[in-house]
Amino acid sequence: MRVLTIIPTYNELESLPVTLGRLRKAVPDSDVLVVDDNSPDGTGKLADDFAAEDSQVHVLHRKGKEGLGAAYIAGFKWGLAAGYDVLVEMDADGSHKPEQLPLLLDAVKDGADLAMGSRWVPGGSVVNWPLYRQAISRIGSTYARLMLGLKIKDVTGGYRAFRRSTLEALKLDEVDSVGYGFQVDLAWRVAKLGLRIEERPITFVERELGASKMSGNIVVEAMINVTKWGLAARWAKLTRKSPQAAK
Ligand code: GDD
Ligand code: MN
Repeated sequence: MRVLTIIPTYNELESLPVTLGRLRKAVPDSDVLVVDDNSPDGTGKLADDFAAEDSQVHVLHRKGKEGLGAAYIAGFKWGLAAGYDVLVEMDADGSHKPEQLPLLLDAVKDGADLAMGSRWVPGGSVVNWPLYRQAISRIGSTYARLMLGLKIKDVTGGYRAFRRSTLEALKLDEVDSVGYGFQVDLAWRVAKLGLRIEERPITFVERELGASKMSGNIVVEAMINVTKWGLAARWAKLTRKSPQAAK
């Protein structure tokens, strides 16, 4: 299995070297693609320096900050074109422990179409998150799960391994959600295709360096989208099952 780990970056000058070093040590077989949105702090240049030293590290430079979702879509397309079998999503800030990546890769080897790191299954946890953030994440995840009828517990989680065929089956150009909503959107699309999603417990460690790029708006937007998608799916089901009702 040829594995590509995609790391989106926006101003991660302090975190990226640490994460890259840990990843290359923990899973030396995985190639890496840093997708940088022209970070003002010079993260893109730093990534280039790593790539110059290490033939398994690649960098995709984008013009400006277009959000996490757009960065991942560009990274997926790059990885598919380059022929990778498994494409991994990983944050640059150390929240997703590179040492836990084998758990996700094993799940894909064992047949999962999408393996998701999960904070909210037994054995999963978060470190250094205040209770209110845990509550927001759990409530948001539960709402999305109920609204969309998903079986996964950590719907917004961003530590994932996709089998190549899973991404090929998605219409990536149709995905335009941002932030947390992007993660929910992808999980929902994979579930609708009836593909096999497996969760594995992870320890999510809040970043120690740099600042988060997510905002309150992004949470609200995700909730609104989940509500729209859930209602649309219910409506479609209703009108399909009882054509009489529509008359
Ligand atoms: N290229 C690019 N462009 N990268 C971005 C952008 C952007 O516009 N916005 C954020 N990133 C990168 C960050 O540099 C980091 O590597 C990663 O995306 C996650 O951003 P954070 O700001 O650290 O997000 P978070 O910790 O609030 O959210 C994380 O956890 C959520 C819950 O699991 C992410 O993993 C989310 O995807 C996830 O939903
Ligand atoms: Mn983070």
